[in-house]
Amino acid sequence: MLKICCIGAGYVGGPTMAIVAYKCPDIQVAVVDISSSRIAAWNSSSLPVFEPGLDDIVMSCRGRNLFFSTDVEKHVADADIIFVSVNTPTKRQGLGAGKAADLTYWESAARLIADVSTSDKIVVEKSTVPVKTAEAIERILTHNSNGVRFQILSNPEFLAEGTAINDLLHPDRVLIGGRSTPEGQAAVNTLVSVYAHWVPADRIISMGLWSAEISKLAANAFLAQRISSINAMSALCEATSADVTQVAYAVGKDSRVGHRFLNASVGYGGSCFQKDILNLVYICECNGLTEVANYWKQVVQLNDYQKSRFVKRIVSSMFNTVAQKKMAILGFAFKKDTGDTRETPAIDVCQGLLRDNAHLSIYDPQVTEEQIRHDLDMDNPDETHGRSKQINIVSDVYEATEGAHGVCIMTEWDEFKTLDYERIFKHMQHPSFIFDGRNVIDADRLRKIGFIVYSIGKPLDPWLRDLPAVPPS
Ligand code: UDX
Ligand code: UDX
Ligand code: ADP
Repeated sequence: MLKICCIGAGYVGGPTMAIVAYKCPDIQVAVVDISSSRIAAWNSSSLPVFEPGLDDIVMSCRGRNLFFSTDVEKHVADADIIFVSVNTPTKRQGLGAGKAADLTYWESAARLIADVSTSDKIVVEKSTVPVKTAEAIERILTHNSNGVRFQILSNPEFLAEGTAINDLLHPDRVLIGGRSTPEGQAAVNTLVSVYAHWVPADRIISMGLWSAEISKLAANAFLAQRISSINAMSALCEATSADVTQVAYAVGKDSRVGHRFLNASVGYGGSCFQKDILNLVYICECNGLTEVANYWKQVVQLNDYQKSRFVKRIVSSMFNTVAQKKMAILGFAFKKDTGDTRETPAIDVCQGLLRDNAHLSIYDPQVTEEQIRHDLDMDNPDETHGRSKQINIVSDVYEATEGAHGVCIMTEWDEFKTLDYERIFKHMQHPSFIFDGRNVIDADRLRKIGFIVYSIGKPLDPWLRDLPAVPPS
């Protein structure tokens, strides 16, 4: 029986391995992690990752051919194929701080593999990593190998959170990058045979190691670029009374452009886009490609602009001050159907409002209070100067909106489309503002109720039209 071990039981490793186990009853899959609380959660009825459809898949194979464990050494030693799916955040300090990927976790995983392996292994890069990481890992492994032979493959993951199960079951493509040597190609074929259990052959693409690594960064950069492009248009639409939804529809009808990923928003978030573009920028700079680096940097800068533009719009609409006003923040996750808050635009918007001394009442159906407190730095003793008194985290959306001066929709949760807005209007302060950062509500209907509505990239409410877009500083 082929044995697979995955190091890292996070948003990528957990769901991916659950699908491998589900689709390949003849393969034994162990997911290991240094975090014992994470493993305990994977072994409980309350999984550490909220993902529609995941529970059923895990329950159907856990204990059969899917195991979660903290015994990293044992499962790595036993495995034929080791996936490495550890976190690779942006470096916070040192060379390349703020841009380069921090490979500390990756390196320690590689050293552990080298230390405990007594039989030949295929090591698969699953985390998004800088180009040529495979080469670095190969060096670590071969210099510490004790005669064991390692083949390194790059198999980047393209799942999006919230739709992970469907993305894994029906991927647009699976990339497998490997060396062109006979041993490299044999390793590629072994991994192809795993995916072939459920992915059609024409969607499994083999290529060189570095092409596979670059493809992942490029795909995320292109996707983020589309959002920054439509968000740039949203600012222009507001200035000219055009409607960004109509513009996106018209542009997306061109089959060369395509219609997906053209929803204007308060900005993209998530663990990948910003990190991967900064990583790409760093790699370009290291290769002396200043113009290319600057081109991609602008995608991130536009995203930052979009978030700060949203805050400015709120403040300018509300008589240039939100001080002491209650603002209801609806949604905190970086997108719907996930409890993940990494790089969520809600953090920047909340911090912007807090700097203007607003009081926030935050509601999200999936994000824990503890997570929100952590993200807004409320645990930091240096940051607490009254800040935590400005924030209230609630589990009921109507509690968040009661007595509020304004409502900000930060995540496109479906439930926000069907709230009882008449009730909300009645119990809010008047004039009552709604700032829709995701274009989920029917603005015309809400205006009839009496709200002053701001929607991204739409013709402005008469109330907002006569105000300066940027408040005087
Ligand atoms: C373009 C638009 O396609 C068309 O919809 C619009 O009405 C007018 O402008 P055109 O300039 O005639 O049409 O040709 P197009 O096929 O878009 O190519 C423009 C340039 O881009 C050409 O130099 C072409 O060689 C280049 N190109 C196109 C690339 O370099 N790479 C590509 O993948 C596609
Ligand atoms: C992304 C890629 O889609 C995935 O292929 C890769 O493996 C990881 O990064 P993810 O970050 O989970 O996945 O979610 P995604 O659906 O791409 O959304 C990212 C952000 O962009 C979210 O904040 C989302 O709200 C925003 N977004 C997306 C928009 O603002 N407009 C859109 O049209 C689409
Ligand atoms: P991703 O979104 O890429 O899956 P996560 O942060 O959700 O990232 O998951 C990465 C996981 O990898 C975390 O649970 C972390 O504890 C685990 N991890 C990091 N380094 C190691 C290591 N050396 N050995 C085992 N697990 C590790």
